[in-house]
Amino acid sequence: MKLTLVAGARPNFMKIAPIIRAIETSNLQGSNIQYRLVHTGQHYDDALSLSFFQDLNIPKPHVNLGAGSGTQSEQTASIMIAFEKELIVNPVDTVLVVGDVNSTLACSIVAKKLCMDVVHVEAGIRSGDRRMPEEINRLVTDAISDHFFTTTQEAGANLVKAGIAVEKIHFTGNTMIDSLIQNQSKFAPPSLLNMNNLRGGDYIVLTLHRPANVDSIEKLQQIVNAIAKGATSTPIVFPVHPRTRKNLNALKLNTELIVTDPMRYLEFMYLIKHSKGVVTDSGGIQEETTYLGIPCVTLRDTTERPETVMIGTNELIGSSSEKVTHFIGKLVNGEWKKGSIPDLWDGKTSDRIITKLLQLYP
Ligand code: UD1
Repeated sequence: MKLTLVAGARPNFMKIAPIIRAIETSNLQGSNIQYRLVHTGQHYDDALSLSFFQDLNIPKPHVNLGAGSGTQSEQTASIMIAFEKELIVNPVDTVLVVGDVNSTLACSIVAKKLCMDVVHVEAGIRSGDRRMPEEINRLVTDAISDHFFTTTQEAGANLVKAGIAVEKIHFTGNTMIDSLIQNQSKFAPPSLLNMNNLRGGDYIVLTLHRPANVDSIEKLQQIVNAIAKGATSTPIVFPVHPRTRKNLNALKLNTELIVTDPMRYLEFMYLIKHSKGVVTDSGGIQEETTYLGIPCVTLRDTTERPETVMIGTNELIGSSSEKVTHFIGKLVNGEWKKGSIPDLWDGKTSDRIITKLLQLYP
């Protein structure tokens, strides 16, 4: 089997790492899967890219397309132009894409137009909010993919509703949780914990990078004020995404906010695992907190990961000041639901995906 694996932005790396590991294990047992790892270059800062390759032991990509930043269309177009050249020089049977970032969309379109098969890992999740670029990426990628690996039964049901044949949908679980389980023993305390005299359970973690929350200074200030009010004296550790940095620099900050650069995977996961709770607008963090049983407040109106709310530890609250302050108050007071772990989030998802791919592409 000849496979091209695509990874481009931070949340792709923890999804692709265990798939590569499962391919290598399968090859040691006699399979012959030849893969090429393509980094689109959507994320290029060491803090968002290289450090994840190091922490997750991902081999150096065979090529980095160097697409970089830009508007939605500029970025998507640069990835498409470079990926088309890549696939023409290095044709494969199948292209595997993960998640819902612009690299996922761009590379799926290019592969299909070159008549190659596309398999989508993390297919079928839907927020219902078409103002999010990720939702467009999910809809288009799923409209043209050949096989669909899903994290939940509900994601599969969304695909059936969209007219996808059931035999193309493979409920295998969550590869991001594979990474978490495989690396759990290596989680390492970031130095800021000691520097700020913080112990486990003392602090909450904040991450914000959705355009709707961070692209306006006024909105960001309103959210940060509401969080600080709800947290009262509980320290807030805030690793800041580059997208958020510019506007954050313009804010009047509460002294309880401990602002830091984006963290490497093993340190960030340690930080979350030992926190009192997490406040976020990320997608993946809703899943990681559910797996770890850590309370999570999601500052969005919709989620493509409803299982984290229905059976996990997540509360979806939007971003109004009253709600933010109220729910963060509950979180710091320890008034939170107990969650459980969704089916097949067991660390073996990537093995199931590779077994299935070997049946599909013998
Ligand atoms: C992208 C994904 C989002 C994911 C997030 C995680 C899309 C549409 N969005 O959003 O789903 O949750 O990654 O980080 O694909 N920048 C840097 N260094 C980098 C990369 C980006 O400074 O290495 C800055 C640039 O100013 C850039 C901005 O961040 O314009 C946004 O980057 P971009 O890749 O467009 O989207 P993200 O907000 O990172």
